[in-house]
Amino acid sequence: MSSPEAETADIAVIGGSGFYSFIDQPVQVSVDTPYGAPSAPVSVGTVAGRRVAFLPRHGARHEFPPHAINYRANIWALRSLGVRQVLAPCAVGGLRAEVEPGDVVVPDQLVDRSWGRDQSYVETGACHVPFADPYCARMSEAVAAADASVKRGGTMVVVQGPRFSTRAESVHYADQGWSLVNMTGQPEAVLAREMRQCYTAIALVTDMDAGIETGSGVGQEEVFALFAENLNRLRTLLADTIASLPDPDGCPCNTWAADVELTYEVP
Ligand code: ADE
Repeated sequence: MSSPEAETADIAVIGGSGFYSFIDQPVQVSVDTPYGAPSAPVSVGTVAGRRVAFLPRHGARHEFPPHAINYRANIWALRSLGVRQVLAPCAVGGLRAEVEPGDVVVPDQLVDRSWGRDQSYVETGACHVPFADPYCARMSEAVAAADASVKRGGTMVVVQGPRFSTRAESVHYADQGWSLVNMTGQPEAVLAREMRQCYTAIALVTDMDAGIETGSGVGQEEVFALFAENLNRLRTLLADTIASLPDPDGCPCNTWAADVELTYEVP
């Protein structure tokens, strides 16, 4: 039996199952939410002296493809454990020459091309979350400060998946000036904002997308292989970031519309 304190965390990492081993002496917490079950039980423990939760976005056995992830349950479950800061490592394709496979990028903008996903906790009333800057500037700064090779800025377009983009779609995204393409970055980011959490994506470029790639285009094997190759580096980056994360108190990510009563429950 774990103590109630062992089941709380301040910071969360949502990412691939390769991050399990990154938490010291984790306790597995099964969380029930008003939105159904999260992708998996949450592992809660310590990293760099901080209370950290880990949730495998695609499930413990990678059973949930991007369009079938219960994003609302995932973010709600983490908030119910006390999490106020979310680090979200993810695999992305590169759309422009300024990024290349192996780069780690902290984007500063996103474009949502996903559809049919539950995007909000708001089910009634006037409650419009500000989202002009979708990522937490303080957290992004901490990620970049933890590793000088991290590239900052750029727009990540989130596509519905699970298929990769056609060449024409990919060329179109690049022509808009967008630099990264991914399948899971939304609605995770906006749900975290609704839950008054700080959130930043940490994008590992695993491939160049179809508009840039010659030959047969992007394949799942290259994406998974490059992610596996860079896992240790990402784990180190996450631990160093966690060690230096600033206090979330007073951050615009959680003080927005402070005078407005939210029409949904923040657990
Ligand atoms: N995730 C990793 N590579 C990707 C790509 N090229 N398109 C969409 N999502 C991705």
